[in-house]
Amino acid sequence: MFGALKRSLGLAATRSQGLLAAGGGRRWWSLAGQSRACAGTPAALQLRDEFLELNHEGVSMCLNYVWLRDHCSSDSSYNSTTNQRKLDTSSIDLSIRPDTCTVQDGHLVLTWPGGHVSKYSHSWLAENSYEGKQKSIVQPRVLWNSDIYENANIPSAKWETFMSCNDELKNFLQNYLVYGIAFVDDVPATVEATEAVTQRVSLIRETTYGRVWSFTSDFSRGDTAYSQLSLDRHTDTSYFQEPCGIQVFHCLKHEGTGGRTLLVDGFYAAEKLRQQSPENFKLLAHVPIKHDYIENTANHQNHMTGIGPVLNVYPWNNELYLIRYNNYDRSVINTVPHDIVHRWYMAHRDLTTELRRPENELWVKLTPGKVIFIDNWRVMHGRESFTGLRQLCGCYLTRDDVLSAARCFGLQA
Ligand SMILES: [Fe+2]
Repeated sequence: MFGALKRSLGLAATRSQGLLAAGGGRRWWSLAGQSRACAGTPAALQLRDEFLELNHEGVSMCLNYVWLRDHCSSDSSYNSTTNQRKLDTSSIDLSIRPDTCTVQDGHLVLTWPGGHVSKYSHSWLAENSYEGKQKSIVQPRVLWNSDIYENANIPSAKWETFMSCNDELKNFLQNYLVYGIAFVDDVPATVEATEAVTQRVSLIRETTYGRVWSFTSDFSRGDTAYSQLSLDRHTDTSYFQEPCGIQVFHCLKHEGTGGRTLLVDGFYAAEKLRQQSPENFKLLAHVPIKHDYIENTANHQNHMTGIGPVLNVYPWNNELYLIRYNNYDRSVINTVPHDIVHRWYMAHRDLTTELRRPENELWVKLTPGKVIFIDNWRVMHGRESFTGLRQLCGCYLTRDDVLSAARCFGLQA
């Protein structure tokens, strides 16, 4: 495990060199005498032993032959009505090579042994190749500290319009995707209205806390959230193998003082760490950490465990997509040896320092009518202590369905 961890931390360059070297003996494809589309692009296409190299608008793509056959969009290989593959991938000869290869009108055209023809547009290949994905981001975001967020003057959606107008919902989703938080104002201060406003966005994810929960500081559950104590910044349900994607809060009533909500953009802090110490960032992105939720009260018994690194990045472009940060629920660290443990604590301290910088803290007073949606994979929440009766309700939403709703509006998610 230790060796594997060291390798994963240090051998990215070696692995990519290995990939580059995998072509072996070079076999150049002659374009002489082929269609006119090839004219002027004699170096655009090269056939190697296991892959084809295509240059498009300055991007050199290495396209594996099995991958190309697997991604054929012909009617016999792909059902464009259901957007599902028809081809049985296991039927592809793993040593397959095209018999002929041409470039025609912005398309790559391959004829395979047996006569099957596959056609791919250069733009599709550029967008879907590994090299193309390395250069693109999955989710455009604006990372923020409190000044950046406040100066952006992001408008809140309004209940009446939000519930009936798709443009209002689309704008809300766009703000949510870009900033990781979004608000709806003027919502009736009831559990029912809160449920309705969340269902306008997505499906509710039921958990051990129920579907839509409503609680006061009565310690009815074995969790600090059910008290009047302050809560440091954290992400929720880090003890789930897949933490809840979206958190919704609505303060229905508060007769007392304090209780402001703290919001911190975890990705902003993590990117600061990446700039200051790439090694510490890598360590937090590789060491698996356990979080546990153990509850043993008269009415509730639970023991849930989630395992994963604090920082989660897409391996092809190193883009952050999930942060698990909950010092309350973090469990025993026993997945790496002692020297890595010490380095991990140093890295964790540096991240915590960034997360706790006062300029990174956005404090919001949630009042009846103001519903907040928080990207629980990115933005941390906490609260200051409070006095008096405070009734809060909320729920979790399924991340897949929120992102799906955004994509159906044409938003990048
Ligand atoms: Fe929480």
